[in-house]
Amino acid sequence: MPAPAGCVFVIFGATGDLMRRKLLPALFHLFAGGQLPARFHVLGVARSRDMTDAGFRQWARSELRDAGFALPRHHGRWCDRCLHYQRLEDETPDGFKTLARRIEALEREQSLPGNRVFYLALPPQAFAATIEGLGRAGLNTDAKAHWTRLVIEKPFGRDLASALALNELVHRHFRERQIYRIDHYLGKDTVQNLLALRFGNALFESVWNRQHVKCVHITVAEELGVEERGAYYEETGAVRDMLQNHLAQLLTLTAMEPPGAFTADSVRFEKIKVLRAVESLKSNSTVLGQYAAGARGRSKLPAYRREPGVARASNTATFVAARVLINNWRWQGVPFFLRTGKRLARRMTEIAVHFHRTPVSLFKFRGGALPHHNALKISIQPDEGFALSFEVKTPGGEFELETRNMEFRYRDAFGELSAGYETLLLEILEGDQTLFVHADETIASWSLFGPLLKKTLALHAYAAGSWGPPAAARLLCFDGILPDA
Ligand code: BG6
Repeated sequence: MPAPAGCVFVIFGATGDLMRRKLLPALFHLFAGGQLPARFHVLGVARSRDMTDAGFRQWARSELRDAGFALPRHHGRWCDRCLHYQRLEDETPDGFKTLARRIEALEREQSLPGNRVFYLALPPQAFAATIEGLGRAGLNTDAKAHWTRLVIEKPFGRDLASALALNELVHRHFRERQIYRIDHYLGKDTVQNLLALRFGNALFESVWNRQHVKCVHITVAEELGVEERGAYYEETGAVRDMLQNHLAQLLTLTAMEPPGAFTADSVRFEKIKVLRAVESLKSNSTVLGQYAAGARGRSKLPAYRREPGVARASNTATFVAARVLINNWRWQGVPFFLRTGKRLARRMTEIAVHFHRTPVSLFKFRGGALPHHNALKISIQPDEGFALSFEVKTPGGEFELETRNMEFRYRDAFGELSAGYETLLLEILEGDQTLFVHADETIASWSLFGPLLKKTLALHAYAAGSWGPPAAARLLCFDGILPDA
């Protein structure tokens, strides 16, 4: 594939957490793999730090070293040649004019073609002023000869009203084709592989519907608690942090119709259709939970309310389970169960598609079990891959069946997978929006999950290190089929 066109990659929040943990290592990886354009310059922008280019480069080098990158001279030179810094003194028009002049100067000095990416690696409360500032300073112009792209990190809004307002603001200054809303789950190879599995194989499509599928369990379980992010999480909770975005992505990719073409418009349109076809969630189809004290092995785990930055009487949900019904021809009557939580028994992101039982049972099953539901379990992480369970005759005289798996493991086939940001950054440079969230998708998703934030649903306690509240276990069990534990 030809390298994408050169550009200035402007990162707001250039010394923040996201830059340090994800963006800088991903950019460096791409550079080391020879995947960045020859003329590619990063302009870090931040409000709080007054740094020179040299100071920023030194900071970046030490961050990369801390992240375990070896910096042989040639690679170290990338920092010196390609990283620049500009302080944004304030978000007034003057502040953005100074920034515009700096960008133009950089483009002249480095003979850059005028393409620009503005990446908002900022807390959500800073989005509006930055988008407004860019627009007013004329930093939003997009032309055939040189493009401008705006990248916005999640969360995109706090609820339906704020997402509508943010979309409206962004559209006042940028066109939808310039906007790249990030959901980092779409950067994961295993998530993209849902498209490959479904639409690159004729095998699955014929059974991917209500005639053959009994139910689907989608789990994003985390072992970690809120760590140092108590204050952020208090304002966010599991519905905003995970359900409205990451789980919504897994749901739409699993349930969508085949797109007419592998293009951003076709793929995203099909995903939006899924969300629009989902029945409103009812109180009895949702369970919220919050972790109480618990244990993993011998280690004691504190309750959420004892975490730093968390209110002692907090009502923030750290767990949510929901039964989702998609009212369309393909899925009518097939429940999709979504489950996500912090401090669960183990880290596991999985989509389990359970098929119907055989209509008649001819055989004996081990231990007198009922005929088994074949299941395709797609493991997004860790242990990426999938397993298709089936019945096999056990050797010997008795005609008895036992469940076994056909398995595929990404690591065995391809080695380690990347964290996903590299892919997303390259797609931004190439101008492909397939792996980014469309404005209408944010609205459809908030319309569906936003009402959970208003309902006065009971908050069930669960022990840290368990699989969530017992009420969720009851909700998630369907005709004897349980989600994996
Ligand atoms: C983030 C959430 O978007 O996704 C975090 O804010 C969560 O709370 C994280 O831990 C999970 O991402 P991953 O890639 O580790 O599954």
